[in-house]
Amino acid sequence: MTKDRIKLLILPGDGIGPEIVEQALKVIDIIKKNGIMIETETELIGGAAIDQYGIPITREVIQKADNADAVILGAVGGTKWESLPADLRPEQGLLSLRKALNLYANIRPVKVLDSLLDSSTLKKEIIKGVDFVVVRELTGGIYFGEPRGIDDNKAFNTEIYFKNEIERIARIGFQIARKRKKKLVSVDKANVLESSMLWRKVVAKIHKDYPDIQLSHQYVDNCAMQIIKNPRQFDVILTNNIFGDILSDESAMLTGSIGMLASASLGPKNSLYEPVHGSAPDIAGKDIANPCAEILCIAMMFDYTFNRAEISRTIKNAVEDVLNQGFRTPDIAQANSHIISTSKIGDKIARRVKELLPAE
Ligand code: IPM
Ligand code: MN
Repeated sequence: MTKDRIKLLILPGDGIGPEIVEQALKVIDIIKKNGIMIETETELIGGAAIDQYGIPITREVIQKADNADAVILGAVGGTKWESLPADLRPEQGLLSLRKALNLYANIRPVKVLDSLLDSSTLKKEIIKGVDFVVVRELTGGIYFGEPRGIDDNKAFNTEIYFKNEIERIARIGFQIARKRKKKLVSVDKANVLESSMLWRKVVAKIHKDYPDIQLSHQYVDNCAMQIIKNPRQFDVILTNNIFGDILSDESAMLTGSIGMLASASLGPKNSLYEPVHGSAPDIAGKDIANPCAEILCIAMMFDYTFNRAEISRTIKNAVEDVLNQGFRTPDIAQANSHIISTSKIGDKIARRVKELLPAE
């Protein structure tokens, strides 16, 4: 679908959320000036919503998110709200939104850029050319399973998966693999967990509809090791909610910094774009956070939601060009880098987008 008028809901959230979202908005502004009609509205989520309304997301904001063409999120959470009960924490704002909009498919591309080979803590020869996607189930599993509870003496959660939840995310995984190198690794803990036994069985069944895709299975502990040992073996990693959460943070470090990883959360009707990283309260407000992940979220949005691959490519090229020129935030700095602030690198990327955009 190519849309002429785009309505975005912006949810900056907490910590570094607002400052990185500000950089993404600079890029959106350039695209607007280039002739695409984009309306934005900004709302509260997470700790910011708790401070204002006493809850991490209001019903009105969920409704606005539902009505928007896409949602752009910064990050939620922070030490300030850590003593609140689970259902009143900032994170619950995001989880409720994912559930309410049925955003069950979370796509997290992991691509190592040549310019950042020296920014990673891992050896160059291991990570060069790494390019895979983590497809994480996002509205099921232990994040949402009932019963759950806590008292002074015990605490428990439920890892539960329904067949239809596994089927639909498996289809997304196979479809993504089909557009890539046609290799899918399904990650589970089927040697121990019943929920994973069903996961493996259902993925194998859905595979019959995608015979052109090479399917293999890995246990999550082994996969965590393989990502460090030989990350180039992966094309698409398909996994459940909690394993995907953990493996995507791990994978981020191949790229040099978790500040580089964007993600798309997709449902039947809605889409939300958020960086893989958190709110980083320790560096919030210092103008040193890496806005690349948030800016790359805008690139993903134009690709997945608006079917404008050329705009998406332009944004990615702009990010790569600025990094190639040696400009870095501290998290990805190398020996000869020019270390610049969040807002300065945002300006540079936006300016580069402007130079690269073809006239509409
Ligand atoms: C992520 C985050 C979230 C998650 C938190 C903020 C609820 O870590 O998107 O990876 O655990 O899904
Ligand atoms: Mn996470």
